[in-house]
Amino acid sequence: MPKILIATDKPFAKIAVEGIKKVIENAGFELALLEKYTDRQQLLDAVNDANAIIILSDIIDNEVISAAKNLKIVVRAGAGYDNIDLQAATAAGVCVMNTPGQNSNAVAELVFGLLVYGARNLFNGSSGTELKDKRLGIHAYGNVGRNVARIAKGFGMTVFAYDAFTDSQKIESDGVKSCKSAEELYAASDIVSLHIPATAETKNSIDYQLLSKMPKNGILVNTARKEVINEPELVKIMEERPDFKYLTDIMPSNNAEMSEKFANRYFSTPKKMGAQTAEANINAGIAAAQQITDFFQNGCEKFRVN
Ligand code: 3PG
Repeated sequence: MPKILIATDKPFAKIAVEGIKKVIENAGFELALLEKYTDRQQLLDAVNDANAIIILSDIIDNEVISAAKNLKIVVRAGAGYDNIDLQAATAAGVCVMNTPGQNSNAVAELVFGLLVYGARNLFNGSSGTELKDKRLGIHAYGNVGRNVARIAKGFGMTVFAYDAFTDSQKIESDGVKSCKSAEELYAASDIVSLHIPATAETKNSIDYQLLSKMPKNGILVNTARKEVINEPELVKIMEERPDFKYLTDIMPSNNAEMSEKFANRYFSTPKKMGAQTAEANINAGIAAAQQITDFFQNGCEKFRVN
């Protein structure tokens, strides 16, 4: 009987855990739960006899994979899998999957939570700005990007997008203006919302050269990954341009410096909250559990990423 471990530093909503439990137990599998672990050894101990692991942004590196002697599959209940060492997993014969699209509305809604808060000067009592009639640039038009476009239209924004891997016709068919390059997108947008994954190509790619294309009163909102930002160059542009705002759901390494230098135009959530809704936890958690039971029962490897 396969043993499935939920290992989440940032726990799923209780209702999502109950849903996952139902799927796992209906399949006749065993469920173990490790939540809010405070030190790495707890994770290393918990994976020891697990055949499958469900995680969020939890780090699954070579050490964790080596400690999990019976591991067959890891499912990241979410989109980005940059927290998993794919090479180590492949070398150990471990299948890695994600659950694309399952938490994307939650992340997209948070973009607007951050934007309203930022556009109103962090509710500091001063007069802010509205989102209506502003130009929003969506950098990468995947599941989250598409949801951001849908919501932006409700705010009365004009929506642009750039995605190196999505056909421009597909973007335009959503009533979104397709840009040919990141440079064109940044130049056309009052606000840019980042939805690129953290890869070797994208790390540090949001830099001075790109950000300097943005018009006056530009706002950059990041619910993607902190690694895509060139942090020293973001500081440089914010020092040069007192009109520029940065809002993020992923605390930068230089959070203390940013908070001190850019009061009222810099905000980071204390912990990444984009996908932390009951709905997203249920959708992604149950999808992960179903993908695992389908993997063991039918050999199904749909959503495999390694
Ligand atoms: C994702 O990659 O699915 C999102 O960034 C959300 O990540 P989280 O589940 O770790 O909050």
